Amino acid sequence: LVDSFGNGALRGLKVVVSAGPTYEDIDPVRFIGNRSSGKMGFAVAEAAVHAGAQVTLIAGPVGLPSPAGLRQRVDVRSAAQMHAAVLAASQDAQIYIAAAAVGDYRPAEVADHKIKKQAGADLTLQLAENPDILGSLSAQTVHPFLVGFAAETHDVAAYAQDKLKRKGLDMIAANQVGGGLGFEAADNALQLFWPGGSLSLARANKDELARQLVAQVAERYQAVRA
Ligand code: CTP
Ligand code: CA
Repeated sequence: LVDSFGNGALRGLKVVVSAGPTYEDIDPVRFIGNRSSGKMGFAVAEAAVHAGAQVTLIAGPVGLPSPAGLRQRVDVRSAAQMHAAVLAASQDAQIYIAAAAVGDYRPAEVADHKIKKQAGADLTLQLAENPDILGSLSAQTVHPFLVGFAAETHDVAAYAQDKLKRKGLDMIAANQVGGGLGFEAADNALQLFWPGGSLSLARANKDELARQLVAQVAERYQAVRA
């Protein structure tokens, strides 16, 4: 059924997609999160299914239904949980597409009781750095074809190309956040960069952009790995 409307560009390949935000707990009732809706990552997972891949979706806390035809969905909350789930799922995967907005920091200590207000005094939270999931995968001698995302408010191309190099990625999809695009928005526009090339995908809804992105990932994967 999938093959009858899919293009088969990823047929036979195992693809891991991460999506959504992470939540870093402060205490039992509070957390640090971000504005990622998960829509782009879920659209990428669906497009990869349509392209014939066996898709594992690692989802942060989003209230989104699973695309039809997934091989597996793993729901996680924190960056540490996402890290563990992505590493496990990536061991036998050919491609990892990191659409999740992973929290860079977490509270150094999680209080086991609700932190009470101390009226008239400021509160300082100490944050600890989270592991870089893409970075830890690219440090492995054998790892999947790695696709990152970069949501930026300014200097999109420069930051994206820096992340491509710094994280050892095979491709990065960069987008400007704000002005009705990106986080919490229906539309997006992407600039793709890979070592030695780039391509702009014009403003479109996230489903259409996801299909175009997956087609480019398949093409680059075949160029590099096949
Ligand atoms: N990423 C990751 N692990 C993290 C943080 C980010 O795997 N701990 C991935 C994201 O899923 C995304 C890519 O790295 O695919 C770029 O994320 P981004 O937040 O833009 O990069 P950072 O290196 O965290 O830089 P900054 O937040 O300072 O822009
Ligand atoms: Ca970050």
